[in-house]
Amino acid sequence: MVVIERIKTGIRGFDNLVEGGLPKGSCILMSGTPGTGKTIFGVEFISRGAEKFGEKGLYISFEESSESITEQAEQLNLDVKKHVSKGIVKFLCIPAEEISNNTVNDIIKMIKDERINRVVIDSLSTLAINSPYTVQNPQTAMNRFIYSFVNSIKRSSNVTSMLISHTADDKSLSKDSISEFICDGIIHVIYESMGGDLSRSLLVRKMRKTKNDEDIHPLEITSKGLVVHSIK
Ligand SMILES: Nc1ncnc2c1ncn2[C@@H]1O[C@H](COP(=O)(O)OP(=O)(O)OP(=O)(O)O)[C@@H](O)[C@H]1O
Ligand SMILES: [Mg+2]
Repeated sequence: MVVIERIKTGIRGFDNLVEGGLPKGSCILMSGTPGTGKTIFGVEFISRGAEKFGEKGLYISFEESSESITEQAEQLNLDVKKHVSKGIVKFLCIPAEEISNNTVNDIIKMIKDERINRVVIDSLSTLAINSPYTVQNPQTAMNRFIYSFVNSIKRSSNVTSMLISHTADDKSLSKDSISEFICDGIIHVIYESMGGDLSRSLLVRKMRKTKNDEDIHPLEITSKGLVVHSIK
């Protein structure tokens, strides 16, 4: 029998939804509407990887400054600054207007050269929309860009990647309608009204090579990071 090597996210309550962890080397889409907790999930994935497993992490944001992301993480008791000072985690902010023809190659090169184990791209949506390849915005150019980027990341053999995807509503998984098919897994975070109150929940929508849990779980942002609650 083939044994699938898995990496634990370290996020409380999550790993047992996916047979103990994400398949090593997989490319996961993290989909959700604004404010659902996608960035927090991505930062905690990187931070726990460094803290618990000594894994090298890279967080690339096209939307928020590194300070903004790390300050929010520190409010949740994720000591990302410590990991950064030890050189095990790196945050890189590339403003959307500075995305160039070289950006993708630079990212792939950095993943390989620095032997990164976990990478988060925040977000694939912003990268794809602002790439010079797609600026004319024909849908085919967008699709080709996304295929090419996801395949390059998948070929970077040692890295497990999380690509953040913006959605306009809770029914869709991406703006491009293609990344959800090419990525190996999809984690969908939902923010909806439950009896008047807004509350977050999480669903593993797809996970190749995994008998994944198929329930929708409450997701809580606590002062010690995320908790995915059991419903049993
Ligand atoms: N210290 C905190 N305690 C509890 N909840 C918090 C805390 N800090 C932030 N939040 C919640 O998390 C949300 C931001 O989460 P996050 O940045 O991960 O969202 P996102 O899904 O990345 O949004 P966007 O798509 O707009 O980037 C805030 O809107 C707030 O509701
Ligand atoms: Mg975000």
